[in-house]
Amino acid sequence: MINFKELASTYKTPLYIYDLDYMTAQYEELKEAFRGRKSILAFAIKSNSNLSIISHFATLGSGADCVSIGEVRRAFLAGIPSYKIIFSGVGKSDDEIREAIEKEILYINVESEAELGRVELIAKELKVTCRISVRVNPNIDPLTHPYISTGLHDNKFGVEIEAAKRMYIRANNSEHLDPVGIHFHIGSQLTELKPIYESAEIVADLVRSLQSIKVELKFFDIGGGLGVRYKDEVTIKPYDYAQAVLSTLKGLDLTIICEPGRFLTANGGYFLTKVLYEKKNGAKRFVVVDGAMNDLLRPSLYKAYHRIEAITSSKTEESEADVVGPVCESGDFFAKNYPLPTLEHNDLLVLHSAGAYGFGMGSNYNTRGRSVEVAIKGGEARVIRRREEFEDLIALEKEYLVK
Ligand code: LLP
Repeated sequence: MINFKELASTYKTPLYIYDLDYMTAQYEELKEAFRGRKSILAFAIKSNSNLSIISHFATLGSGADCVSIGEVRRAFLAGIPSYKIIFSGVGKSDDEIREAIEKEILYINVESEAELGRVELIAKELKVTCRISVRVNPNIDPLTHPYISTGLHDNKFGVEIEAAKRMYIRANNSEHLDPVGIHFHIGSQLTELKPIYESAEIVADLVRSLQSIKVELKFFDIGGGLGVRYKDEVTIKPYDYAQAVLSTLKGLDLTIICEPGRFLTANGGYFLTKVLYEKKNGAKRFVVVDGAMNDLLRPSLYKAYHRIEAITSSKTEESEADVVGPVCESGDFFAKNYPLPTLEHNDLLVLHSAGAYGFGMGSNYNTRGRSVEVAIKGGEARVIRRREEFEDLIALEKEYLVK
């Protein structure tokens, strides 16, 4: 049991807490599901990019799925070996491609024919051969929130099958490209197995047809996307997930790469915020807290649900309230019409499932410093990123101040 009250009084609020033991258990469960096959779990750094979190997964043997050169650098700093690092993303710059090639990561995941051309050119300039995979867009509806759906031709991600084929043929004939993998990622917070299975089948068929033209791949990268329970979702069991994917790979000797983010981190994270005021506008009840959309954006951006636990001595009956922050936007809320007891100044609210896409999507909007992050392992808590102070926020402007 995590003592939220004590942590809030030690570290002050707003505050992110991460339970590393929970994250370990999630990692082990997923890794175990792929037992019997060669596999790499490449932690999707974007879901929680704190160096200590990445380093925790590194010690478990994890690789890293990165979507910017900044994330690649984080992966190296945190001790992820180069041969377990993947670099994806629809818009890599030349500088990013160059650095990734120089760092000899496992492969660059290419998302367009134009990008393949840039990678080839840069590898040629550097006089090396670059390992690549192609991100295939299987045109399957992942049945998730449209903002986090990526596997349809309507989405900007990946290339269609015919383009992928052309890219593999081109790469196979190039001195500077070595096609080693194939990749798909159809969306995030997936709770239906069927779209994953169907995508894996399409991509596995492509692998077979590539084999027949002598393109021999080693890595079958199934992306991330495993959904978690925020409220009452029925989630996919890692074992069923692995079985569904593996059943499409009969006769193929491929290492599975999986890029979980949310599954590893979401429910290992908590966002703690204190009540500042209660107020009413007409019949509408508001609970104003010290955290805001700049700390945890998901409710504002996706109307995402995060369970709220009120830690209070109040014994009143619950009534519905909007939980809002101090930022000057009507969109600054953590919940709408959420049942809560009457709250006092300094009562604590714990927002659950905040370990993925929480801190990382934060900003300094309204000149608010980002929260402190604390990790708990074996019952011991320690700071893994200090709170941002005013001086931090103006550091890059101060010397340029126009007088
Ligand atoms: N691999 C690729 C290529 C991805 O684009 C993503 C996530 C992942 C792996 C990890 O997906 P996960 O296992 O975490 O579902 N900000 C949104 C989620 C955006 C996901 C973007 N891509 C949210 O807060 O729900």
